[in-house]
Amino acid sequence: MPDLSSNLAGIKSPNPFWLASAPPTNSGYQVMKAFDQGWGGAVWKTLGVPVVNVSSRYGGVNYRGNRLIGLNNIELITDRPLKDNLREIEEVKKYFPDHAVIASLMVESKKEWHQIVKDVQNAGSDGIELNFGCPHGMCERGMGSAVGQEPKVLETIVGWVQEVATIPVIVKLTPNISEITEPALAAKRGGGDAISLINTIQSIVGVDIDNFVPYPIVDGQSTNGGYCGPAVKPIALNMVKNCALHPDVKLPISGIGGIENWKDAVEHILLGATNVQVCTAVMHYGFGIIREMIPGLERYMTEKKFKTIDAIVGKALPNVKNWENLNLNYKVVAEIDEKKCIECQLCYTACEDGAHQAIGLSNQEGNRVPYIIEENCVGCNLCSLVCPVEECITMVQKDDGKQKLTWSERTKNGNIPTTFDDPLAGGLHHWVPEPMEALKKKK
Ligand SMILES: Cc1cc2nc3c(=O)[nH]c(=O)nc-3n(C[C@H](O)[C@H](O)[C@H](O)COP(=O)(O)O)c2cc1C
Ligand code: SF4
Ligand code: SF4
Repeated sequence: MPDLSSNLAGIKSPNPFWLASAPPTNSGYQVMKAFDQGWGGAVWKTLGVPVVNVSSRYGGVNYRGNRLIGLNNIELITDRPLKDNLREIEEVKKYFPDHAVIASLMVESKKEWHQIVKDVQNAGSDGIELNFGCPHGMCERGMGSAVGQEPKVLETIVGWVQEVATIPVIVKLTPNISEITEPALAAKRGGGDAISLINTIQSIVGVDIDNFVPYPIVDGQSTNGGYCGPAVKPIALNMVKNCALHPDVKLPISGIGGIENWKDAVEHILLGATNVQVCTAVMHYGFGIIREMIPGLERYMTEKKFKTIDAIVGKALPNVKNWENLNLNYKVVAEIDEKKCIECQLCYTACEDGAHQAIGLSNQEGNRVPYIIEENCVGCNLCSLVCPVEECITMVQKDDGKQKLTWSERTKNGNIPTTFDDPLAGGLHHWVPEPMEALKKKK
């Protein structure tokens, strides 16, 4: 049986699945219920100064029948009294001493930081997470993403926290910045023990087109909020990878963003996260999703012969290269499995109008299965992505797999095209129909 236990910068938990700081960790009642169902850790809903929330607070993106592929919120930090939260943290730790309870914090002055760090330590927290990510409400008051976007300020505050911290300090980063490694490096310079990312992405999820107000609506008006859920996973994965690959960041990472099942979690871990945090999926489906996540991860580890979580961390990173180091000689073309094809012809339309006119339709009456025009196919993948039948269109390797040549090697050897007429230029070899062909086809 693989060992699922996790250790993020000294914070131990029975498994790598934590709840992210958000409504599911708003109270001791919820955190105890989650631990009871199998979650390994919880980052408490951010504690700080007294706030007042608005109503309503959330907006959702539904896509073709799928509810909440993205969630947007304009909620602030906790609006429950600090003393209640501290008492509940203490109580949770009494019942679940082996689970990780992390206090998420956001205050303003050095004095406030020192006090609240001591408070949560006295309550028995296993770690502290500094919320430098909230992209609305708190940033206008000089907190949240206002700090996350200013590496120097971030570094200073991490330093203040470390003056009194006796437990590990995780710095939570905002994705609302052009280069995520800058605040990550500042977290390191300030003495942070780990980083977590991503917090929510600044967004407007939609507009009420009858009343001319974006969502969520507060008394006929609205504001930008923070976006999360399945739609943000690709952005989160890229930022986790950037931090993991940076030679000077070298901090353990808690991966957050769009995690809904064990596979999403494994993807974060393969790109460098030591553990993961989940928010939207729990808000959508409840704590019970952990009952599928744990056995799913166990089965994956058994199949791949990973004995520990650490063995998976960063396993995909050696395969991430800059574009100029990819093999230009690798060639794939699409292949249609006629037996699986349901004759919808979506691949034909996609390639004809949106790619390289490399799919043909048969003239034969009653035959609606498209065919690939191999010499036109550039191997872009589009048809296989739009095909509704799993494994019906596959990409088949056509080169001999032996010669590797990258753009960076070609540059070094001086054999890069300098004009569009240069025989070395890639586009010269693509067959493209004459513009007038478009009108002929219509007739
Ligand atoms: C309604 C809501 C409230 C949140 N509140 C906090 C918060 O108080 N502190 C914090 O650090 N992050 C907060 N977050 C951000 C989450 O912790 C998490 O970083 C983000 O939702 C991305 O993860 P997900 O895609 O699993 O939802 C909140 C998110 C939502 C949806
Ligand atoms: S998209 Fe797939 S199923 Fe539809 S016609 Fe093309 S190959 Fe067949
Ligand atoms: S891989 Fe791209 S170019 Fe080739 S057939 Fe499919 S869509 Fe067309």
